[in-house]
Amino acid sequence: MVADPSLLNPVEVLATHASFRTDLGVSAVGDCRNLLSRLPDECVDLVVTSPPYDGQPKYGDGEAYDRAWYSGTFHEITAELLRVLRPNGSFILNYRSKRTNGERGTLQYELVLWLKEQGWVFAEDFVWGKPSPPPGRWNRHLKDAVEYCFQFTKSREWQFHPEQVLRPARWDRKDVERRKQLAHNFVRVNEPSGHGRRRVNAGPDMVRPSTLLTFEPEFEPNPSEHPARFPLELPQFFIGLLTCPGELVLDPFGGTGTTALAAQQLGRRWISMELNEKYASVLPARMEKARPRMVL
Ligand SMILES: C[S@@+](CC[C@H](N)C(=O)[O-])C[C@H]1O[C@@H](n2cnc3c(N)ncnc32)[C@H](O)[C@@H]1O
Repeated sequence: MVADPSLLNPVEVLATHASFRTDLGVSAVGDCRNLLSRLPDECVDLVVTSPPYDGQPKYGDGEAYDRAWYSGTFHEITAELLRVLRPNGSFILNYRSKRTNGERGTLQYELVLWLKEQGWVFAEDFVWGKPSPPPGRWNRHLKDAVEYCFQFTKSREWQFHPEQVLRPARWDRKDVERRKQLAHNFVRVNEPSGHGRRRVNAGPDMVRPSTLLTFEPEFEPNPSEHPARFPLELPQFFIGLLTCPGELVLDPFGGTGTTALAAQQLGRRWISMELNEKYASVLPARMEKARPRMVL
């Protein structure tokens, strides 16, 4: 633990482990357990991450990512995340238990209970729906088109900016007509005649999103052959909802750096940690390609 966190810029603290840097962030290669221990207390505004899903040794690093890994190593990592998160920050955990022998795994629910015991507030469960889920055929299951994005916080006073992620309203014609019949969609006005009602809009053009997030899986070219990347819209959504420009976003299981890319584009500072250099190495090219779209 660091003695005087106010003296440290968390992005600078990881500079010696950097594989890549920008004006706003650093991508560090290494085990996030070690890297997190270098960060000062309460310096991160938002964690958005997707750890390796259970029982998927496909990252080729010798780790099985089974239930024991989650109850041990992952627990140690989330303890560090609790330490480095600011009091009004959030931790978005993207997770889905797999199905085995005709049964859906329950680790996704156990994780929620374990994290609550660790001291986290279970603030929300967003559902990520995929219109075109990965192909597959099972005897008694359909294609899996949903994943969870659990929001954990340190307190009930987390920062929240739905106005930064408004979505176009999708009123269909019938909906508009129905709304026009409702009394509360009219305002009383002071006409010179002393009476009168004026019809107001059937609804605003831009509305708050719901907890059902609809993003396609990532279909962009995959030079490092990473098996489980975020679609860029996923971290973009949570960064917009839960942080302000200039604040610090962390992804401890950074993979190909999708959270970092979203943070850079949205003018947030960022830290991405990844064990496997091959995956982290694609981030500079992704940043370069996206640069014309950056909003800084
Ligand atoms: C589900 S992937 C994340 C993908 C990422 N969201 C993206 O869009 O590319 C999980 C990543 O965690 C990495 N990882 C596993 N254990 C780790 C550890 N102890 N420290 C840092 N990274 C780790 C894996 O190599 C893998 O790339």
